[in-house]
Amino acid sequence: MLTILVTGGAGFIGANFILLARQAQWANVINLDKLTYASNLQTLAELHSDPNYNFVQGDIGNTELVTYLLKQYQPDAIINFAAESHVDRSILSPRDFIETNVVGTFQLLEASRLYWQQLSSSKQQQFRFLHVSTDEVYGSLNSQDPAFREDTPYAPNSPYAASKAASDHFVRAYYHTYGLPTLTTNCSNNYGPRQFPEKLIPLTILNALDGKSLPIYGDGQNIRDWLYVTDHCEAIYLVLQQGKIGETYNIGGLNEQANLTVVEKICAMLDDLAPKSDYHYSSLITFVKDRPGHDRRYAINCNKINHELGWQPQENFDSGLLKTVQWYLGNSDWVNQVRSGAYKTWLKQNYENRKV
Ligand code: NAD
Ligand code: DAU
Repeated sequence: MLTILVTGGAGFIGANFILLARQAQWANVINLDKLTYASNLQTLAELHSDPNYNFVQGDIGNTELVTYLLKQYQPDAIINFAAESHVDRSILSPRDFIETNVVGTFQLLEASRLYWQQLSSSKQQQFRFLHVSTDEVYGSLNSQDPAFREDTPYAPNSPYAASKAASDHFVRAYYHTYGLPTLTTNCSNNYGPRQFPEKLIPLTILNALDGKSLPIYGDGQNIRDWLYVTDHCEAIYLVLQQGKIGETYNIGGLNEQANLTVVEKICAMLDDLAPKSDYHYSSLITFVKDRPGHDRRYAINCNKINHELGWQPQENFDSGLLKTVQWYLGNSDWVNQVRSGAYKTWLKQNYENRKV
């Protein structure tokens, strides 16, 4: 079985990936995570006594620690999920995004290169560095534009997107300059269980259950291509095993939805699953001041991963959204833990001055 160093594995996608990797016996896992506000070790509690899972708290930018872990565990692959991932936070305080997404990724690449260069030639050929990136590096589409392809020029519009674009360029450079066997995946908006409730879907579910307003930026017609997190994790594993080194693969849900539609669907599901006697959840919808530089539309063309590796998303949006809503309804311990003081401070910071 493979041994994988997963970074950022206490966050949303990384934790879902690790749970799948251990359940399906894809790999032994070492999880290196700094444990920022976005992480939650409770998500991985079921792996507590798993001898093939190890958690290490630390920063991808800590070269000494990463070098030690590589030497100690001799991984066959690194999957880099670690990042500052929230666009709104990058607008309010971009510095952490440069530190982790740009400098941190560079330091991780450099430690990986030194480790890889001293492996035997058969181990060198087997080794992979898979970098998880985003469709936001491609910029914004109009309604008529074709979906993003792997060769769409980069045009990042937020500090978050710019920092991810920079990290993608370093990954590319390490392949071309040093021959490090890299793979890059650029995916669309993920949704599903265990997502920190600063992102649209979990924020809407939890605000609705609390009877709070459901904030919609601008006119609510911005479009995202929603990808169920399990589909994404399976695609990553496939790219890791069969992807061509040095290449990029776009991963999308084939699921374009306007934000207002997403929020209305969640409200309708909650009306069925957790009805309120005196109002419908949709009455909580509130239009608020737009996000600065808000990208209008994202859409992913995933023909390459479909044609070359045979992957396509399995979940449709209604079934995936229903599973997600049910998960949040059924996991109140997890939910109560993430709604800590720090989360309340964020809600105040982001929404207080948004009223229109
Ligand atoms: P997340 O914010 O939920 O989790 C990020 C994790 O990284 C957290 O556990 C955090 O503690 C950890 N981390 C942050 N800085 C670190 C550092 N310096 N060293 C080690 N660990 C650190 O993010 P996510 O939604 O799970 O996203 C994972 C990756 O996928 C990110 O690279 C993100 O850019 C990318 N991505 C996410 C989405 C999405 O919709 N969520 C879509 C496209 C791409
Ligand atoms: O496209 C991939 C990206 O998707 C990832 O790279 C990012 O890590 C991830 O955070 C996500 O970015 P978005 O900005 O698209 O996600 P978010 O959930 O913050 O917002 C989704 C849409 O909903 C976006 O158009 C903004 C809007 N929105 C968001 C929030 C939090 C609202 O209308 N109201 C809100 O309160």
